Amino acid sequence: MGANATALILAAGEGTRMKSALPKVAHRILGVPMVSYVVRAAEEAGCERIVVTTGHGAEAVEGLLPGVECVRQDRQLGTGHAVMCAREVLEGATGSLLVLSGDSPLVRPATLAALVKAREESGTGLSALTARVPDPAGYGRVVRDEAGDLTAIVEDKDCSDEQREIEEINTGAYCFDAPVLFKHLDRLTTENVQGELYLTDMVGLFVAKGLGVVSMFVEDFREMLGVNSRVQLAEAAKVMQRRINEEHMLSGVTITDPELVWIGPDVEIGRDTEILPMTFLMGATRIGERAVVGPNTRVTDSVVADDASVDSSVLVQADVGRGATVGPVAYLRPGAVLGPAAKAGSCVEIKNSSVGEGSKVPHLSYIGDAIIGKGVNVGAGTITCNYDGYGKYPTVIEDGAFIGSDTMLVAPVRIGEGAVTGAASAITRDVSPGALGIERSEQREIEGWAAKRRARHERE
Ligand code: UD1
Ligand code: CA
Repeated sequence: MGANATALILAAGEGTRMKSALPKVAHRILGVPMVSYVVRAAEEAGCERIVVTTGHGAEAVEGLLPGVECVRQDRQLGTGHAVMCAREVLEGATGSLLVLSGDSPLVRPATLAALVKAREESGTGLSALTARVPDPAGYGRVVRDEAGDLTAIVEDKDCSDEQREIEEINTGAYCFDAPVLFKHLDRLTTENVQGELYLTDMVGLFVAKGLGVVSMFVEDFREMLGVNSRVQLAEAAKVMQRRINEEHMLSGVTITDPELVWIGPDVEIGRDTEILPMTFLMGATRIGERAVVGPNTRVTDSVVADDASVDSSVLVQADVGRGATVGPVAYLRPGAVLGPAAKAGSCVEIKNSSVGEGSKVPHLSYIGDAIIGKGVNVGAGTITCNYDGYGKYPTVIEDGAFIGSDTMLVAPVRIGEGAVTGAASAITRDVSPGALGIERSEQREIEGWAAKRRARHERE
């Protein structure tokens, strides 16, 4: 690819067919906005500069693209008009200009690089990417002459009955000779059914002017699915899901049922890890080697280290140490950190707390704003009472402590090293190292009471 290739990504449209308050290109696939996939593909294809035209919901779209150069198209008068709006900022761009649609998130970098190469090597003014799709309805059709050369692109709504039968479609990705495009852009007119300035008309114009047009056929049409409706959004997500899962499987991850596992594009997974059905790994999640994640698990922006296991749980911004076990049905919220070989068992919720190496919180507990040392056992039903309705307070449990079942740890409170708390105690004061902290009334015994009660009921 030429060293100075630029990409212009069109993302100003409303996407009426989405029936949404959100601009179309902001809709997400596996947690990532559609337009971001296109930006990344252009980056990975080696584009030196990337410009995005925004318009409908511009602030929302620009907010999704930190650090990306955006130019406004205030009224959406068509794809040709969108390019006109970028003319000023692209003034002086030489060489190749890739024009892409923000609603085609499946495009591969290698395809874009090949499209640029096709134009540069043929020395033409324009290379257009075409495909054959099972249902061409809605796409612009590729019209060729008897010699098979591309002569025009005709929009679906402007097609004659005969043209509508054409199966080859315009993918909406082109590579132009930038100065040549901008020189002729003003020749576009709105003489079409939609009254818009169609970028696609540049193809016919380039042919008429003898500026040279080549086309490149994309083998896998799924790469160029344009998302106009939520039905197509689901189709595109399915393609992306399979693509990502296959990459992981080919690099050594076992996915028992890839149709039932959804993994975001930025997730990393180590070798010999097993991902079980109904598992969703999203955001900047990293899973180590030999881990087992799932079934029925959602992990977002979290780390799961080597040899750890997570069963039927939800993790958000959590960090699970080497060989640690989570679940079934645990909820690890932001700032939950499990040390090596630690355990967060069934129905356990942990937030903003660290659980030291080998420490266990096996059943039915809430741990919030706590620091738990090494080798601690937290009995079933234990709760850190960290919130008094106004502020949040810390609990510290030192190494080797044993927290009896159903202990209420009323924060701020500290349990010393090796200390024990009696079951069902409400601990409101610090417990010294090695001591027993107990808070409960003494058990009484009333002899024969049960027999008397039974007799009373039988009489009545
Ligand atoms: C477009 C092509 C069609 C092609 C299809 C491929 C035109 C006229 N038609 O049709 O030939 O088969 O893509 O998916 O180009 N946009 C703007 N400003 C506008 C209008 C659109 O930025 O004024 C953006 C949209 O946000 C979208 C992209 O351009 O990302 C394509 O627009 P869309 O309305 O989806 O065009 P299609 O009808 O799909
Ligand atoms: Ca489209």
